[in-house]
Amino acid sequence: MRTVLEQLEQRREDARMGGGAGRIAKQHEKGKLTARERLELLLDEGSFEEYDMFVAHRCTDFGMEENKPAGDGVVTGWGTINGRMVYVFSQDFTVFGGSLSETHAQKICKIMDMAVRNGAPVIGLNDSGGARIQEGVASLAGYADVFLRNVKASGVVPQISLIMGPCAGGAVYSPAMTDFIFMVEDSSYMFVTGPDVVKTVTNEIVTAEELGGARTHTSKSSVADGSFANDVEALAQMRRFFDYLPLNSRDGVPERPFHDAAERIDNSLDTLVPDNPNQPYDMRELILKISDENDFFEVQANFAKNMLIGFCRLEGRTVGIVANQPMVLAGCLDIDSSRKAARFVRFCDAFDIPLLTLVDVPGFLPGTSQEYGGIIKHGAKLLYAFAEATVPKVTVITRKAYGGAYDVMSSKHIGADINYAWPTAEIAVMGAKGATEILYRSELGDPDKIAARTKNYEDRFANPFVAAERGFIDEVIMPHSTRRRVCRAFAALRNKHVDLPYKKHDNIPL
Ligand code: HXC
Repeated sequence: MRTVLEQLEQRREDARMGGGAGRIAKQHEKGKLTARERLELLLDEGSFEEYDMFVAHRCTDFGMEENKPAGDGVVTGWGTINGRMVYVFSQDFTVFGGSLSETHAQKICKIMDMAVRNGAPVIGLNDSGGARIQEGVASLAGYADVFLRNVKASGVVPQISLIMGPCAGGAVYSPAMTDFIFMVEDSSYMFVTGPDVVKTVTNEIVTAEELGGARTHTSKSSVADGSFANDVEALAQMRRFFDYLPLNSRDGVPERPFHDAAERIDNSLDTLVPDNPNQPYDMRELILKISDENDFFEVQANFAKNMLIGFCRLEGRTVGIVANQPMVLAGCLDIDSSRKAARFVRFCDAFDIPLLTLVDVPGFLPGTSQEYGGIIKHGAKLLYAFAEATVPKVTVITRKAYGGAYDVMSSKHIGADINYAWPTAEIAVMGAKGATEILYRSELGDPDKIAARTKNYEDRFANPFVAAERGFIDEVIMPHSTRRRVCRAFAALRNKHVDLPYKKHDNIPL
């Protein structure tokens, strides 16, 4: 008996060594942790339950039958993060460069199937040279099996990808179909075709980092939702991020202990909006000041900075925030910010995360680049996403809410539940100057007349009361009491229920 136990322990020990001490040392030299070290940091201590530790590939070509490391380059199983269940896979670069074989894919598929059945999120730690070259089409089939599961699990359980090394070729499409992608700076990259192919085909000379590093994907392509300096920080932030997420589409938002009174007032908010309507202010300040313990997990912080998205908590419960940022492009809606916010709104709606929308928007960004780029279609994404979302929706207009952008930014008309405005709100078809110049074109030669007309328009429309008179705004609130008002609004909406007519699925403008 004893010998059998010892044999098991020995086999386990061999499996834990992955590709061997030499390759582990190489991994460390690159500043990267091993697949198992990463899981130790991601999961609660001692919570990891591993599956398929002894799975080995079945390839017999290229002498592979002589080299069959236990586990086949990926560590899979489940564990907990602050006590809440999560399924995980962590690719082991020390085993055939973390490349994906038929059996490696089967291990990932197994835990994805379990995650869907048992209603827990999946976090994938990606560090892989792509398709296992020795296996050919069997490896491609394995990728497709994972892709199919990514799609089937979408909207059922949250899926998060952390890119911690190479992720190239068709392999990028599994993370691309998950809900969030985060990257580690300087040690991870994602591209469909690498620098060598790019050079051959287009003559462009570009490094892997420029083509698909964290900076590129967080600021240019928006493929990634955030990046972190190293493995340790990335894994710590994943634990923080995970705490905001529901476990599945039926579970509702997590409730965490909080130490911040819902009634807390903040007098500094009364002077947040400058007297000069053309002067910017930082909307992030409002978000921080109304959130529990001033804690905001921002997503896509370096892309389309005219729109802020991310998670906060109100009375311990997760809320998704969508906010115009007047500091950048005056908070205008454009193609990038519309796409960014639309996808976020849809994630929140899929997982029953209530939405708080903070509005200061002078309209859509004008210009040929926007029109040629399809702002009509991309702007429609955000309009569509807000309108179809059935989660509790609360909107606060702090200053400008002009034109179509007023309608789009979770207005009462497209289904927001509670709409508040600060006394500084200006809800109108457009700014007073623009409006006057169109209405009184014949008087443009007379500056005094135009100034008087502008003043008149401002007095009439540059306020929240015209909208409030019609009930489009439920209440004009004091800025200092915003936290209390939105906490109470969400509390009142906890039992919100919407019945929808049957449809197979919608047809959002993609
Ligand atoms: C099998 C692989 C491998 C792969 C790496 N290795 N990639 N084995 N299949 N795809 C092995 C290497 O042979 C090596 O084995 C070990 O992993 C580490 O690789 P190195 O090259 O020494 O590491 P490094 O210098 O850090 O370079 C990493 C790398 C490079 C950039 C990822 O290995 C690389 O270019 N690999 C090939 C990438 C690729 O073309 N993959 C296919 C893409 S197409 P030893 O024994 O020496 O340690 C694809 C299609 C997916 O993925 C389609 C889905 C639909």
